[in-house]
Amino acid sequence: MTATAPTLAPHPSSPLPEVQSPIWLQTLQSIVNPIPYLEKAHVEHGDIFVGRSWGFPPFILLNHPKAIEQVFTTDPNYFDSVSGNQIISPITGDQGLILLEGKAHQKRRKLMMPTFHGERMRAYGEAICAIATQVSQEWSQNQPFVMRSATQEITLRVILRTIFGINNNERFQQLRQLLDEMLHTFDTPLGSSHLFLTGLQKDLGPWSLWGKFLRRRQAINALLLAEIQGRRQQPLGQDILSLLLAARDEQGEPMSDAELRDELMTLLFAGHETTASALAWAFYWIHQVPEVRTKLLAELRDITPDTDPSEIAKLPYLSAVCSETLRIYPLVLFTFSRTLKQPLRVMGYDLPVGAMLTPCIYLVHHREELYPNPHTFWPGRFLERQFSPYEYFPFGGSNRRCVGYAFALFEMKLVLATILKQTSLQLVSPKPIQPVRRGITFTPAGGVPMVVTGAA
Ligand code: HEM
Repeated sequence: MTATAPTLAPHPSSPLPEVQSPIWLQTLQSIVNPIPYLEKAHVEHGDIFVGRSWGFPPFILLNHPKAIEQVFTTDPNYFDSVSGNQIISPITGDQGLILLEGKAHQKRRKLMMPTFHGERMRAYGEAICAIATQVSQEWSQNQPFVMRSATQEITLRVILRTIFGINNNERFQQLRQLLDEMLHTFDTPLGSSHLFLTGLQKDLGPWSLWGKFLRRRQAINALLLAEIQGRRQQPLGQDILSLLLAARDEQGEPMSDAELRDELMTLLFAGHETTASALAWAFYWIHQVPEVRTKLLAELRDITPDTDPSEIAKLPYLSAVCSETLRIYPLVLFTFSRTLKQPLRVMGYDLPVGAMLTPCIYLVHHREELYPNPHTFWPGRFLERQFSPYEYFPFGGSNRRCVGYAFALFEMKLVLATILKQTSLQLVSPKPIQPVRRGITFTPAGGVPMVVTGAA
């Protein structure tokens, strides 16, 4: 095992290193092109430093596994881990898991966890494979298509099914269409800046960017509320909405329509955007690095349509490809920020109440001593050694660790195996693809244009 680089302990009361460029420039860089900003700051300031952005308190970026360990193992009551997430409240509302805190958060998590793990999750295996097959059968040979759009179609259909059960009626077609259109708002850095710079959130009519977003959100809310009200009259099933409808608080009260709507929006949003981009990246890397494709196809050789999805999920090289995909370009560069409610000494610095600790997934995933040649896509590193949850954490950690992580990995593996077994694909261009911001996530620029060259 490679040891992580030692750091010299500072005097506890010495000031933290700080990025020196003006706040407007840091804001611009962190919205438009944050990776070079982070890499430069890491070289100049090391394992812990302060950055600034308009509209937010200064954030303390942590990129040493020891600091990550401390954040993930300290009692969560030390932190407010919600106020940094307010930027997504226009999408999810305020009453979904991401914006809940304390007991309410704990209780909601406990309720939802089983659906995205174990037996319940495995029950979705066949549906995931069937949806991947349906979507890939729509591709025509030699006709270029954008992989990111195809994977979004797959992950959206999968999450709708998980949340609402088997449903393919007109309401769901409309919901799919509207969600897709609403999330297009954040396709570009300009669109995404509306989340970060709240002054831009003005309804300037149905043709303005924010005006369109608000109208689509209103239409989605109406569809979700209609579904919630309809389902209150029906027998409960095994899907997430049924679980949420059955839940009662300490006073025996069910969740309100508004709470249910916000939770559904949270899951619809968090549950497909990220996995769609992760899959598009995986298809890119598999076809960009020939050796990876060859090894993966060799491992998939014995898979048939009758293979149990759980067996597919255990394949070591396929798992390593997914891990490396989420290492090299993590879908979110940071976990949620943890704002101190009590003073804490981190990496030798005494930090006061209000300090906004922000574990940086991207920088830890690119530490040379952990990941030699960190910019090279090499799944083999995950077969050669195990990384601790503080060295590798694409899904965050502690009480906020992604509720959907097992589900997302299961889905990624099944979609990749299903499509690679049925279809032979090629990248339209061999040029390297860079990550670009899409809301709070980072997705391949241009969406990975690909072409079907034949049956596998
Ligand atoms: C590759 C796909 C995914 C990635 C990379 C990802 C990443 C993350 C990260 C980094 C966090 C923050 C954790 C922290 O701050 O410690 C998070 C939270 C969350 N994720 Fe995911 N996620 C993915 C897929 C999903 C899916 C499929 C779902 C739902 C089915 C989901 C639902 C959530 C929710 C609800 C939270 C908030 C958890 C809480 O506050 O307790 N995510 N995710």
